[in-house]
Formats: sequence, structure tokens, C-alpha cells
Amino acid sequence: MDMKETMCVTGAGGYQASWVVKLLLSHGYKVHGTVRDPCDPKNVHLEKLEKASENLQLFKADLLDFEGLCKAIDGCTGVFHVACPLPSSSPNIQNPEVELVKPAVEGTSNVLKACTKAKVKRVVMVSSVAAVVLNPNWPKDQVMDETCWTDKHFCMAKANQETKVAGFNWYSLAKTEAERLALEYAEENEVEVVTVCPPLIMGPMLQPKINSSSMLLLSIARDGLEKMEYFDWTAVDVRDVAEALLLLYKNPEAKGRYICSSYSASTLVLIEKLKGLYPNHNYPKQISGEGFVCNMSSEKLHKLGWKNRPLEETLVDTIEDYYEKGLLNKP
Ligand SMILES: NC(=O)c1ccc[n+]([C@@H]2O[C@H](COP(=O)([O-])OP(=O)(O)OC[C@H]3O[C@@H](n4cnc5c(N)ncnc54)[C@H](OP(=O)(O)O)[C@@H]3O)[C@@H](O)[C@H]2O)c1
Repeated sequence: MDMKETMCVTGAGGYQASWVVKLLLSHGYKVHGTVRDPCDPKNVHLEKLEKASENLQLFKADLLDFEGLCKAIDGCTGVFHVACPLPSSSPNIQNPEVELVKPAVEGTSNVLKACTKAKVKRVVMVSSVAAVVLNPNWPKDQVMDETCWTDKHFCMAKANQETKVAGFNWYSLAKTEAERLALEYAEENEVEVVTVCPPLIMGPMLQPKINSSSMLLLSIARDGLEKMEYFDWTAVDVRDVAEALLLLYKNPEAKGRYICSSYSASTLVLIEKLKGLYPNHNYPKQISGEGFVCNMSSEKLHKLGWKNRPLEETLVDTIEDYYEKGLLNKP
């Protein structure tokens, strides 16, 4: 490995990006991390990562701040574009097109233009299975692979029906548009782009404040819900996503998009597994609704050598992390 390579990670203080920064530092890379507010205590965990004092530099940059992004990306050979607003992290969204779609799509365009300016070789971008699964034309009994794309018109129609806070459909639209833009940009420009589509990301946290996808497992173990709506919990470990991103950066054969999913089962199976490991938590008493389990394949990623850890390891490490952070009491 070239010890002098410098990588940029956008949204460095977030749940997933923090693990990417940690992994890159542990591999000897220098890292430029973008954060919206370098003084915010929520980013302080980054400074405590091993080798951060020598090799990590933080840059202030919103995704809509092209000049800020240029400063962060200048001098980098690779960029891990992870930042994106999540609807569940911003419960007070009034205008989803401005608050979700614009930063995702225009932000991705800004990152890529900054990459062209800095002559970055390769960009690995975190998309989502939200850009894969909302496709009514995909045959129901066929496993979803990277050729399946969320249908923009289907998604917009659903998004416009959303009456409560802006949610999954606007987010899906944002991720789909941003991922398509990135792959098209790569076809027309010098920079190489690979995209990664994870489902629900679970696992221990490096950042101090709980992120939205981690709330799900915490709520299942903590809240003693009378009823829980059935949900699709196709999931992956946050550390395995970080490994996938680096693998895709380093492997010149990696091209296009990659589904990055490890586990797929019903809500009941998840709760039963948790009960087997930690029998005495306050689990939901009843599961209601029907839901569906997404059947999707990460074969393309596995073929490049990606391995995911077993579900039990993710669950144990996550629950132990919640104990340590005081989010969950040991029964
Ligand atoms: N978590 C999941 O289950 C999941 C599943 C599939 C895909 N993903 C994707 O994974 C990536 C990381 O998500 P996460 O779970 O780690 O969420 P997170 O902890 O909420 O991190 C999101 C990051 O994006 C940054 N960000 C949001 N809007 C921004 C803007 N306008 N300008 C600059 N930065 C902005 C946030 O910065 P601040 O800290 O300043 O707010 C934060 O660092 C996202 O692209 C998400 O779509 C997540």
C-alpha cells in the first residue's frame, strides 16, 4: 500500500463514515474528513481514533458548499462519498425536495465536480437499497440484483402521497437520483465511480450520539412495545460496509453498483435471535402487519472477496456497545 495516499471521507462524523475513517487510518492512509461543524462535540470521537492526531484532518463543508468540498478533496487520490441527509435523522423536514433531495443530488454533483478539479482517480459512494427495491415491475419471485433500480415515477407518486413527515419515499428518490447521477458522471468524465447499496446498517457506534438506524435495535431491546409493526430488516454490519468500501476502492476490477447486504429475515426471527442471546430484555409483545422480506443478492460483491460477519456477532457487539454507552440497562 502507498502510505502517502490521501483519502477524503464526506460526512466523516456520521455513523457509517466514522467506521470508514477508522478503517482508512488503520491501513495507514491520510484522511481528509468533511464535517459541517468541526467544533461540534458530536465529531470529537474522530480525534480520538488511533493515528488521527497524525493522519486525520477535518474540513468544514456542507454538500452544497462547492468551494468547501474542493478544499477538502484537493490532494486526495480517492473519495468515499458517504454524507447524505437521512429523513429519520431530521424529523422536522418541511420541504423534502429542498432538505432531502437537493443535498443528496446536488451534493453528489458537487463532490464529483470537485473530484474532477482535483484529478481524483476513484470515488466510492454509499447509495442504498432504497435505490434498488422500489420497482413494481421486478418479478416478485426473482432475487433482486444490481440491475434492479427503484422506479423514479413510482417512487415520486408514493412520495407525494406521504402525509406525515417526509419519509422513506423521498429518501429513496434522493438516493436513486444521486446514484444514477454519479454513475452517469463517471461515464462522461475521467473519474471512476463505484456505488454501494446497503440495507439497514447495524452494529456498534463510534460516534457519541445514537443515529437513526441504530434506534431500531435499541427500541426492540429496550422499549417493551405492546405492538411492533412488521418491518423488513434486511441488514448489514457497519464494519462490513466499511470493509466493502475499501475493497471496492482498491480493486480495479470493481465497476458499477454493488448490493452490500448480509442478513435477510422476518422481524420475528430477529427478535427470537436476540432473545436467544439476551433473554431478559423488554422485547415487543406482538408483531403486527404483513410487510415483506426483500430477497436480494450480494453475490457480485462476494465474488470480489467481500465477507460478512455472522449475525450473532453483530447483535452481541451492538448490545454490548449499548450497555457501555449507557443506552440500555443490563437486565
Ligand atoms: N444507516 C442506514 O441504515 C443506511 C442504510 C443504507 C444507506 N445508508 C447511507 O449511508 C450513509 C451514511 O448514513 P449514516 O447511517 O451513517 O447516517 P448519519 O449518521 O446520519 O450520517 C449522515 C452524515 O451525512 C452528513 N450530512 C447530511 N446532510 C449533509 C449536508 N447537507 N452536507 C454535509 N453533510 C451532510 C451528516 O452530517 P452532520 O453530522 O453534520 O449532520 C452526517 O455526517 C448515507 O449516505 C445513507 O444514505 C444508511
